[in-house]
Amino acid sequence: MKGVILAGGTGSRLFPITETINKHLLPVYDKPLIYYPLSNLILAGCKEILIISSPKSLGELKNQLGDGSRFGISLSYVEQLSPEGIPSAIYLAKSFSENEDIWVSLGDNLIFGSRIKELYEDVNSSKKATIFIKHVGSIYGFGSAKIEKEKITHLEEKPKTKSSGWAVTGLYKFPNSVFELIPTMHPSERNETEIIDLINKFLVHKNLDYKIFGRGVTWVDCGTVDDLKLADSFVHNYQKINNTLI
Ligand code: DAU
Repeated sequence: MKGVILAGGTGSRLFPITETINKHLLPVYDKPLIYYPLSNLILAGCKEILIISSPKSLGELKNQLGDGSRFGISLSYVEQLSPEGIPSAIYLAKSFSENEDIWVSLGDNLIFGSRIKELYEDVNSSKKATIFIKHVGSIYGFGSAKIEKEKITHLEEKPKTKSSGWAVTGLYKFPNSVFELIPTMHPSERNETEIIDLINKFLVHKNLDYKIFGRGVTWVDCGTVDDLKLADSFVHNYQKINNTLI
């Protein structure tokens, strides 16, 4: 299995911290943030992982992670010249994918919990695009999914409402046809290609599945100072209480 981690973007919600340091290298308790999506993709069975980031940050990420041999995987790196959106970044993995299905993780998502390996194994045996959703107190700031009669009926990027609902987390598995769909996309009003628009294309083609991260799974999008602190405390407390490493 091949996986991609998106570690570019501007990290502007974390300014001034991320004016000079790449968000994905910030510490979450005892490890750089990017270790969490990396270990999650390894859990999903990815042995070859491509890291995509800005020209400014790619060298630091390479220095931190190397060729992956110490994690028992192979790591490679590609530059995204400007942060034009998540689908645009994914497109840079086209030749890396070598016509295979591909896992994609946003580099700022911490996902940890019980029985996720089994969930991922299930997804690996499916040919459909798959997203992972989690019920949250407020879907403001996330991609959101409306589920009716166990089917996704609507997807929306960053709805204005602060009501509870199903958030679309930053972990995706795509069939290789994703590389045919991305070039048909147009930038949104904020001048970025949007991941929810891409997922919507699979929904329209009836080629979209979803899995639920239930109560046993912790998901934190570490895009803000508060959420980064939450992730930090979570890892600290979990590791101390359980005398184990995340
Ligand atoms: O974390 C889940 C949410 O992540 C989803 O619910 C949303 O649908 C999705 O759009 C995304 O929202 P964010 O506002 O959190 O996205 P952000 O701009 O923070 O980018 C997410 C990651 O992707 C971040 O680690 C940087 C990377 N990225 C982003 C862009 C726009 C890139 O590598 N290149 C890019 O061009």
